[in-house]
Amino acid sequence: MTFQTAAEKYDYVNQMFARIAHRYDLMNRIMTVGQDRYWRSLLVEQANLPANGSLLDIATGTGDIAFEALRQRPDLQQVIGADYTLPMMQVGQQRASRQNGARRLEWSGADTLHLPFPDNSFDAVASGFLMRNVTSVAQALAEQVRVCKPGGRLLILEIPRPADNLPGQAFRLYFHHVVPLLGGWISGQPDAYRYLPASADAFLRPDELKQAMEQAGLQHVRYQMLMFNTVALHVGTK
Ligand SMILES: C[S@@+](CC[C@H](N)C(=O)[O-])C[C@H]1O[C@@H](n2cnc3c(N)ncnc32)[C@H](O)[C@@H]1O
Repeated sequence: MTFQTAAEKYDYVNQMFARIAHRYDLMNRIMTVGQDRYWRSLLVEQANLPANGSLLDIATGTGDIAFEALRQRPDLQQVIGADYTLPMMQVGQQRASRQNGARRLEWSGADTLHLPFPDNSFDAVASGFLMRNVTSVAQALAEQVRVCKPGGRLLILEIPRPADNLPGQAFRLYFHHVVPLLGGWISGQPDAYRYLPASADAFLRPDELKQAMEQAGLQHVRYQMLMFNTVALHVGTK
């Protein structure tokens, strides 16, 4: 899947997530055999949030990272989930109304390339499965670094470009052939689940993302691979 312009990709991603919003959570649980919950919980643990701290979950979608933060850390003073696809956040809001602590989550319509928050606002800034989708990784990182407090952490959970080895090829087979079938069946949108593996193929390798984070000014950048090396959790400090 190729895009002629950045604007074309920006609009495609926005409309695609609006179309699959109602089935997004279910498809995640099935595709990852429930492991995605564990990754988000690991991310929140590694955010190293201070007591009464604040977290921004960029591209929150249906709010999974933000909900996990409120579950794990009920002391947090502020948790904001921001996204530019309103139907994704509407699904999350329906879930929040059914869970007590989750009602504290603040939702914000926001473009990740132009975040509507002042400099140095949050103790940690997190994103889950966003960075493949943005039209400029450098600009997205610059914005995340800008709104993070000095000493705060930036966390990125993402599917990097699969390795060119046998396990990487096996994952590509699953990702390109099984996932679109499943996704088409469950969400009625096979295109969205063809875009998913294509966007991973076009994304950075884990070491390249680490380098991009360092270039954005982050320190102590490290990453760990999850789910048979198919998912990466990167952490850096401002
Ligand atoms: C794969 S979903 C991830 C949702 C959630 N973070 C999770 O872990 O399940 C990607 C999300 O990124 C959002 N997104 C993509 N590009 C964006 C942008 N430029 N600004 C804001 N949100 C964006 C989409 O709307 C979508 O909700």
